[in-house]
Amino acid sequence: MKLLITGTPGVGKTSIALALAKKLKAEYINEKNFALKHKIGFFDIKTNELVIPLKKIEKKLNELIKKKKKLIIEGHTLCETKLKVDFVIVIRVDPEILQERLERKNYLPEKVLDNVFCEGIDYCLKHVKRRYAAKKIIEIKNEKNINTTIVNILRTLKEKTKNKQKEVKL
Ligand SMILES: Nc1ncnc2c1ncn2[C@@H]1O[C@H](COP(=O)(O)OP(=O)(O)OP(=O)(O)O)[C@@H](O)[C@H]1O
Ligand SMILES: [Mg+2]
Repeated sequence: MKLLITGTPGVGKTSIALALAKKLKAEYINEKNFALKHKIGFFDIKTNELVIPLKKIEKKLNELIKKKKKLIIEGHTLCETKLKVDFVIVIRVDPEILQERLERKNYLPEKVLDNVFCEGIDYCLKHVKRRYAAKKIIEIKNEKNINTTIVNILRTLKEKTKNKQKEVKL
């Protein structure tokens, strides 16, 4: 089973991907760490953020995906890439809940605004829908605790792979 977990910054991708990787005994990859390790990308001195060239990371990740059996890749930017994964999980949080959560976690006010806006316009989901077949896309809410979200993801994956257990190993 190879999965991409994506969604607006702050919705819980890293927390969920790490917990899921542990449960499924899958290798875990974060887009930023992967880009740094492979020297893909550069720091924008204005925003002090890593800019990841999409085509480069897409190519490099697809090379890796081919060699692996169980892999969970996560990142916000990756909603704009087409990876050879079995499913794309888009994590969603209602913008109001996201705002409260990020303010409580002391995210910078401009980051909170950016993220709430991004979630409000379904930015990631729209990009994912442009690149992947509907049957590969799983939208999951992370509005309760992480464990509930993990249970929902596992249940949905099980349902989706029910008829193709041989093809996709959980
Ligand atoms: N279900 C949840 N309930 C409450 N807090 C949560 C939940 N899921 C994640 N969080 C918290 O929200 C914050 C953001 O989570 P996380 O870092 O996993 O998000 P992310 O999507 O990976 O963000 P980024 O895109 O910035 O890397 C963390 O402080 C995390 O502990
Ligand atoms: Mg993260």
